[in-house]
Amino acid sequence: MDALTIERVDGVAVLVFDLPDEPVNKLSARVKSEFEDAFGSIASDESVSAVVVISGKPDIFIAGADIDEFVALRTREEAETLSREGQAMLDGVANFPKPVVVAINGACLGGGLEFALAAHYRVASSHPKTQLGLPEVQLGIIPGAGGCQRLPRLIGLRKALEMILTGRSIRADRARRLGLVDALVPNAILREVAVSAARRLAESMPPRRAPGGFAAALLERNSIGRRIVLRQAAKTVRRRTGGHYPAPLAALEAVREGLSHGLAAGLRREAQLFGELAVGDVSRKLVQIFFATTALKKDPGESVEPSAVRTVERLGVVGAGFMGAAIGGVAVAQAGVDVRFRDADLEGVGNGLRGARRLLERRKQRRRISRFEYQRLRSLLSGTTDYSGFAARDLVIEAVFEDADVKRGVFAELEDVVREECVLASNTSTIPIARLQEGARHPERILGMHFFSPVDKMPLLEVIRGPATAPWAVATAVAFGRRMGKTVISVRDHPGFWVNRLLTPYLNEAGWLLAEGASIEAIDKAMTRFGFPVGPLTLLDEVGLDVADKASSVMHAAFGARMAPAPGVSALVASGRRGRKSGSGFYRYEGGKKRGVDETAYAFLGLRPAGAPSVAEIERRLLAALLNEAAGALAEGVVRSARDGDIGAIFGFGFPPFRGGPLRYVDDLGATALFADLEDLATSVGERFAPAEPLAEMAGSGTRFYP
Ligand code: 3HC
Repeated sequence: MDALTIERVDGVAVLVFDLPDEPVNKLSARVKSEFEDAFGSIASDESVSAVVVISGKPDIFIAGADIDEFVALRTREEAETLSREGQAMLDGVANFPKPVVVAINGACLGGGLEFALAAHYRVASSHPKTQLGLPEVQLGIIPGAGGCQRLPRLIGLRKALEMILTGRSIRADRARRLGLVDALVPNAILREVAVSAARRLAESMPPRRAPGGFAAALLERNSIGRRIVLRQAAKTVRRRTGGHYPAPLAALEAVREGLSHGLAAGLRREAQLFGELAVGDVSRKLVQIFFATTALKKDPGESVEPSAVRTVERLGVVGAGFMGAAIGGVAVAQAGVDVRFRDADLEGVGNGLRGARRLLERRKQRRRISRFEYQRLRSLLSGTTDYSGFAARDLVIEAVFEDADVKRGVFAELEDVVREECVLASNTSTIPIARLQEGARHPERILGMHFFSPVDKMPLLEVIRGPATAPWAVATAVAFGRRMGKTVISVRDHPGFWVNRLLTPYLNEAGWLLAEGASIEAIDKAMTRFGFPVGPLTLLDEVGLDVADKASSVMHAAFGARMAPAPGVSALVASGRRGRKSGSGFYRYEGGKKRGVDETAYAFLGLRPAGAPSVAEIERRLLAALLNEAAGALAEGVVRSARDGDIGAIFGFGFPPFRGGPLRYVDDLGATALFADLEDLATSVGERFAPAEPLAEMAGSGTRFYP
């Protein structure tokens, strides 16, 4: 392996990092020793006065430490050593006798940013792909090559914590404002600017720096001020993680140690904590999710020749209501395609256009797009009350009223105007695609694209193939969903698809527990304690009780008694409570804010909370219902693999990522234990808990979902 080449330009050594046969540059033990050799030879080369480190890859500077390498570690000592070695190499960069300048274009993440932090000067390209961040906590670890030490020293404690504790990366222009990079230039002149900066540094004529050093505000300079910032950050972390994710608190500790006792002590503590976390269960689960989502990014959803996948340049959206507007808005914002809305009247079309523009405006305000980009994208939006312009569409998504006949009518009209190779998608959450294909002239191009609301925030998309859908159509929809920024799973046409199939018994069980006397708070608390972002009753309020009630009756009709809903939700809907959007459901809402339990809901349902079942029992029953359904639906082929099922549950309704997804969780519990528990619940609580068939087999044979 020769990942590094040295080019010499006017007395500056330009070190080009390009890992052979790999899509990204990553730091491994072998790369590290190549860097050490290269720096060694540059140190003794008298014809060279400075170094520039640049990537040979088009879109990546350095993607961080090689994740494959640290997941192979078995003991915390090994992981700590790995971190110490990384730190030592970067100490070598920081203390290198000649100036080191990094030229950053593309992703500069984790160990890649730590490398840049150790260098003496940072130039970044203004390309939108240039992103800088320390995403380690998202993998359940902490920056372990000096990031917890050098970032706060460079940009100030508060801003550094914001980056380290969330793992979110920032664009180069923001990095420039924070002083994280010293200069921002177009990629075309990146190398040239970096070389001239290196030369100036070598001649002791420091080039201009970003003013970020001032970010270390007065408050942070004294130990009392620092303590206040750290204490506040710890409080926020505890609230956000519910105690389930150890990495952010560990990162805080590494930062604190370094600021109180100096760089060397900080690095030592950082490596120890990195060692503990890297071999811990939470990190293992989060890394599995990283690899699963990365693999999904390349999965076409159906086995097709790449040439069969059609590129969508022009999208049609029929039904410009709340959902249609959001789909069109995200499509233009993320994928930059031409979007044409169709609605029955001008008012409807106007609403759709306004909704989509609002989304673009928000992005402009948050500086995610420039004013120029905003104008360009806005001009891609148009609308019509007939189907004019639809002959040129590559994909049309309908988001009209949730009724099979209405949707079929829309497809019939579309078939008269669109080209043969245009994909027709329904954004349905409950209607079988098979019914929408009935009577169609070209059923092979009809499929489902189930987006979740709010479309711009919810990361999952289910692409549903009906019995007649052609693989090319599925692959086209999957590819487009991904361009919209979604994590896409390809699912079979089966009632509820994947997400609603799992949610129905889970939400129903919450209703049964309520009817038995559990309080609203206890039900929600049981699941937030388990790690869900919200409990099932809050989720019902968010989804809309009317929407959930309708979906639930479809599922009841499809699956019979096992999915019979508890009486509560329908009664609440009948009383006009539809959840957050109506101002009340299980909770009250004022001005868009949740204001606590709506106590009148109990009286309305004729219930009085009795303090039982206990929180532990609530958790047991809700999970049993969910896990049982996941096992059954996977066996029926609703999703193609346990991987897709777990990703769907995590991104679709917030199954706790640190538990790896419902199917991985079954593996952890053991199918035998879950099977026994379900049998017990089937006898003591109700037949609906009868274990799904595959669990019986797994319990007998000791097999797992994941080998
Ligand atoms: N280690 C190992 N493999 C990596 C990797 C890494 N840090 N980063 C990316 N890859 C692999 C992916 O698994 C994928 O492999 P495959 O082709 O075999 O499936 C391949 O590189 C391409 O990745 P993507 O498909 O994700 O490419 P994109 O262009 O869409 O995205 C990226 C590029 C933004 C760099 C994205 O891959 C990413 O976010 N990577 C992870 C970044 C990260 O978490 N870095 C921190 C690592 S931990 C660390 O640095 C510890 C340190 O503090 C000591």
